[in-house]
Amino acid sequence: MDTKYIFQKENFSLSNDELLLDETLFHNANGYIGVRSNYEEGYPTNFKTIRGMYLNGFYDIAPMKQAEKLCGLIEEKQIMVNTADTQGILIEINGESFSLFSGEVLKRTRTLDMLNGTTSRDILWRSPSGLELNIKFTRLTSFYMLPLFLVKVHITPINFSGTIKITSTHIGDVMNFFDPTDPRVAGESHRHIEVKNVIHDGNATILHAETITSKLNFCSAVSHKTKAARTKADGTTKIFEYDVNKGETIEFYKFSILCDSIRYPDYMDECIYLIKTAASLGESYFYDKQSEYLRKFWDNCSIDVDGDDDLTIALRYNLYQLLQSAGKDPNSNIAAKGLSGEGYEGHYFWDTEMYMQPFFTLTERETAKNLIRNRYTILEHAKQNAKILGHKQGAAYPWRTIMGRECSGYFPSGSAQYHISGDIAYAVIAYYLATKDKSLLAECGAEILIETARLWIDIGNYCEGKFHINEVTGPDEYTCLVNNNYYTNALAQYNLNWAVKSVQMLKEMGLADHVLNKTGVTDAELAAFTSAADAMNLPFDEKLGINPQDDSFLQKKMWEAHTVKEEETPLLLHYHPMYLYRHQICKQADTVLAHFILEDTQSLETIEKSFAYYERVTTHDSSLSTCIFSIVASKLGQVDKAYKYFGDSAKMDLFNTHKNTKDGIHTANMGGTYMAIVYGFGGLRIKESGLSLCPVLPEKWNSYNFSFLYEDAKISVKVMRDKTLVTLLHGTEKQITIKGKSYALINEIEVQ
Ligand code: BGC
Repeated sequence: MDTKYIFQKENFSLSNDELLLDETLFHNANGYIGVRSNYEEGYPTNFKTIRGMYLNGFYDIAPMKQAEKLCGLIEEKQIMVNTADTQGILIEINGESFSLFSGEVLKRTRTLDMLNGTTSRDILWRSPSGLELNIKFTRLTSFYMLPLFLVKVHITPINFSGTIKITSTHIGDVMNFFDPTDPRVAGESHRHIEVKNVIHDGNATILHAETITSKLNFCSAVSHKTKAARTKADGTTKIFEYDVNKGETIEFYKFSILCDSIRYPDYMDECIYLIKTAASLGESYFYDKQSEYLRKFWDNCSIDVDGDDDLTIALRYNLYQLLQSAGKDPNSNIAAKGLSGEGYEGHYFWDTEMYMQPFFTLTERETAKNLIRNRYTILEHAKQNAKILGHKQGAAYPWRTIMGRECSGYFPSGSAQYHISGDIAYAVIAYYLATKDKSLLAECGAEILIETARLWIDIGNYCEGKFHINEVTGPDEYTCLVNNNYYTNALAQYNLNWAVKSVQMLKEMGLADHVLNKTGVTDAELAAFTSAADAMNLPFDEKLGINPQDDSFLQKKMWEAHTVKEEETPLLLHYHPMYLYRHQICKQADTVLAHFILEDTQSLETIEKSFAYYERVTTHDSSLSTCIFSIVASKLGQVDKAYKYFGDSAKMDLFNTHKNTKDGIHTANMGGTYMAIVYGFGGLRIKESGLSLCPVLPEKWNSYNFSFLYEDAKISVKVMRDKTLVTLLHGTEKQITIKGKSYALINEIEVQ
C-alpha cells in the first residue's frame, strides 16, 4: 500500500477540542452525503460534539432578523439541514458499555485511506472490569451509489468469552449546530425537520421527514447485515446479541440510504429500492467500486512532491476533500466547508469559481460542467436579486446561497461583493479556454456572460470619459463599500469583453440562436459592453507605481500586518468593522488576486511593486489568501517566499492553523493549494493566446509532478532540479510555451 494515500493519527487525544477537530478531518462525503466523524457509541454528556449528516443542496429556511428594516434587506436565509442520524452503534460487553472515556484505551488509531475511500477507528480497549477487545469501525460514503453510507464494525474479544450486545439507532429528532458568539456559524437554534412517518419494510427501517419551512422531504433507510444469536426491534432501534468466544470476530454492517425530494421525486420508493439493492449487493461490492472510482480519480489528478512525503499526503488530503465536497449534479455546488460541518451554514460562495473549479476544470470536467450548470440553474434568482438591489437589468449572483436567494445578512461584506458575478463569468471563460467546448457556452455559458455584463453596465457610470463602478466591496472583507475596487473593475472589463466575444464566436459557428433568443441582446448593446470595457477605470498610483485596491485605499491610515498581535487574530473577532474599514489593512488577497488571474492587464513592474505593498498590510485572516500570495510570489521569481506561503496553505486544516476547522474544512484553500503548485510553481497558464508553463522548483524539493487536461489532451509535467519534462499522455499535438520559448508538444519535451 502506498502510504502517501494514508492520513493517520495514532493514539489521538481524547480532549474535546481534538475530538471536534477530528470530526471534521475524518468526515466521509461523496459530494451528496456528508457525515461528520462522530463516535458511533457517543460521548460523555459533558462533551460538546457537532453531530451531523448532511445532503448537499438540501436546505431549510431560517429567519434572518434585521433590526432596521431597510428596503431590500433579506429577512430569511437557506441553511443546510442536519438530516437523520444513522451513525449510532452502541456496544455492550457482558453488560458493560463500550466508551473511549471509561476503562482503558490501550491503543487507538484513526485512519483516512484515500485510495480505498474509507475512514476507520481501530481501538484496543480494556473495560473497567478488565475485559479486553479490539473494535474496528470502518466507514464509507459511496462514490458509486451516492445515497449510501456504510459502517462496518468488527469486534474481537481478546481475553474473554461472553455476550456482546449491539444497539443500532436511527434518529430523526436532530438539530443543527449553532454558536451565538461566532459569526461564521449559525447564531440561533431552530428546528429544521419534522419526522412524518416511520415504515418497516423487511429488514429495513425507513424514516420520512419534511423540512419545517422549505417543505422539502427526505427519507432515510437503515438495514443491517450480521449473524446475531438474537435480534430485537424497538421503533427505529435494532438490538443484536451475540454469544462470542475469545478470539472470534463479530462482523456487523450497517447500510444507510438518504434520498431527498430535490433529486428523487419518488424519494420514498427510491430509498426503499436502494436500501434493498445495497444490502443485496453486499459490502464487498461497494468497497471494490470505491477503490475502482478512486484509482481513476488519482490517475486523473496525480500530484507528487519528491522530497517531502508529509506534504504529498497533505496535498492528497486536500484533493481528496475537494472530491468529497463537490456536488455531482447541477442541483448542488461546493459549500465553503464542503460537507464536513456547519460553518457558513452550507452556503456556496465565490470560493467555488476562483479556488475550486480550476482543479475540476483541469482534471474532472464533468464536475466542472455541473458547477457551471448549477450557477445557470439559479440565473433567474440572480436576475431577481439584481432587481432587489435596484438594478434595471442583469444578474447579480448572491454572495452566499444554496438554492439561489441571497443569504448574507451583513450586506457590506455580503451582497456588496458584486465581484462574485464576475467570478462566475471568469470560471465560464476559464472552462472554455481549457476545453474549447463551445457547446457549454451555447447551452448556458454565453447567457451567463451576457446577464453578468448587463449588471456591470447598470452598476457603473461614465465620469470624465472613464467607466466607474462605485459602492462595491472587493474580495478583501476588511475594506468595504468602496469606489472602483481594482479587482472588481478588472474582472468586469474581462467579463464585458468576453460577453461580446462569446456571442461573436457562437454566431460564427451557427450556435448563437439560444443565447440571442434568451437574452435578446442586440449589436448596439454589445457595442456598449465594449465601450464600457475600453473606458474601465483601473486605479493606478503614479507615485507608488501600484494599483491601489480602490479609490480611497491609499488615503487611509496604514496598519502594518506584522504589528498585529497573535491574540488579536482574526481581527474580525476583535475590532468593530468600521475601525477595520478605516485602515489600510487587508483580510486577504484582493489586488494581488487580480494580478494573478488577469496578469496581462498590468506590467510586471506594477505587479511586483503592488505585491510588496499588499504584503505589508495583509493579515491573511481569510483562508483564501496565502495560496494566492504564493502563486504571485512564484511568478515574480520569489520562490522561497512562495514556498513559505504555500506551506501555510497546504497544512491549514491538518494543523488547524485558523483554529476553526471544527466547523469544517477550508475547501477554497484546498483548491488554492493545488493552484499554488500548478499555477504557482508550475507557472501553468491557459489563455486565449494558448498554453504556457514557467516552472520553478522550491529549494527543499527534489522534484514535483502533476498532470492536467487541455483541449483533447492530457499532459504531464515533471519539474526537476536540472530539467523539466513535459509529456503528451494522450491527445493531439499541442503548441506550448515553456519559459518563454514555443514548442510543438508531440510526445515529450525536455527543457533545461
Ligand atoms: C472570506 C471570503 C470567503 C468566505 C467563505 C470569508 O472569510 O473572506 O472571501 O468567501 O470566507 O469561505
